Amino acid sequence: MADRIRVLIVDDIPETRDHLTKLLGFESDIEVVGAAASGAEAIEIAGGLAPDVILMDINMPDMDGITATEHLASRAPNAAVVMMSVQGEADYLRRSMLAGAREFLVKPFSSDELTASIRQVYVREQEKASRLVAAPHPSAPRSGAVTDEPGQVVAVFSPKGGVGRTTLAVNLAVAAATELGKRVVLMDGSFQFGDVGVLLNLNPKNKSIADLVPELEAGVLESVDTFVITHSSGVRVLLAPPSPETAELLTPSGVKRVIEALRATSDLVIVDCSAFFNDTTLAILDAADVILTLLTLEITSIKNMRLFLEVADQLGYAEGKVVLVMNRADSTLGIRISDVEHSIGRKVDHSIVSDGRSVVYALNRGVPFFLSNREAQVSQDVLSLATAIVGEPGAEPALDARKASKQKSLFAWR
Ligand SMILES: Nc1ncnc2c1ncn2[C@@H]1O[C@H](COP(=O)(O)OP(=O)(O)OP(=O)(O)O)[C@@H](O)[C@H]1O
Ligand SMILES: [Mg+2]
Repeated sequence: MADRIRVLIVDDIPETRDHLTKLLGFESDIEVVGAAASGAEAIEIAGGLAPDVILMDINMPDMDGITATEHLASRAPNAAVVMMSVQGEADYLRRSMLAGAREFLVKPFSSDELTASIRQVYVREQEKASRLVAAPHPSAPRSGAVTDEPGQVVAVFSPKGGVGRTTLAVNLAVAAATELGKRVVLMDGSFQFGDVGVLLNLNPKNKSIADLVPELEAGVLESVDTFVITHSSGVRVLLAPPSPETAELLTPSGVKRVIEALRATSDLVIVDCSAFFNDTTLAILDAADVILTLLTLEITSIKNMRLFLEVADQLGYAEGKVVLVMNRADSTLGIRISDVEHSIGRKVDHSIVSDGRSVVYALNRGVPFFLSNREAQVSQDVLSLATAIVGEPGAEPALDARKASKQKSLFAWR
């Protein structure tokens, strides 16, 4: 058969290798092309075998599965790793995903679970490959490159806290980078209490927007890239200051200049905003091409949204700049989306389902749910939204308010 899924098995225990080989031998669409007894052996033979999927044991004596997966990213970039681990090793999930594994199987697993995982990652990788072929810059470097056209700036905002801004900003960024082939920068614009670093498990020393303050004060801005960290998904991240006091040193004009610098080297800048209407938040909203405004099915969220829409109107934001996103849209709390639309006088543009299990699991492990639970409806909703913003690969951005009529600047009076 022409299109059999080529599988390489990596496990230090000979019986496990034999068992897995036998199990997969029953599947007509799967072919075991090789077996390796160690991470080092896998790295050596993977290039020549061109597997589609690598079944990798996490615990091996000479080189563990996580280190081997990291090396394989360059040796066999087209192979998707499915990590196998015994129960009770939850932290391994996070580390495996960060190393580049596409799926995680907890032992003991059934043969159905095994073959379903192999088929799922295979199909997903094929889809991704075909999308990237259609994309305009499939092999363009994801960082540091200067694009011809400045990127699109998307602010993720809500006039009420705790409605899911950071969750959405992080997963949108990952979806646009991994599935839509975009060069994405995620900026934590919640300067006082930013959570982006927590959701992505990034905690570097001396790498945040606060480190740019001296340059901003001196009127030069040269080292933005120095303070941007690259997450394993390819998303580049500019974190919030480590302490709330430092946040006060950031001025609206400084923040705008940082955003302009970031958009010059990316396709998409996503900014996670604070819910406070302070001058730096307003500077971000002003600089944004699209404001994804999040609301939930709660009376307070709806009341604040009505006020915000009035303000946005007074500010003369171009039509289409404010995009309404209902988070946890399927919550059954007695209020329906149609009630909300009636109350605020406009349609909700996009919806994201509620999925506490995937979202909190991801949060506690520092791996975005878009990476750890790609099949979940909440991930599909995020991908639809990302596609609506940046367009299908190769297409013009769908929600591009830059082409709309000139906006009135919030800071026109300065
Ligand atoms: N679609 C969803 N389904 C289930 N839970 C969700 C969803 N979106 C967000 N949450 C949960 O809601 C809580 C708030 O989310 P998040 O921190 O992203 O909101 P925020 O608007 O950034 O809050 P803050 O005001 O603290 O910055 C978190 O516990 C998160 O896991
Ligand atoms: Mg937040």
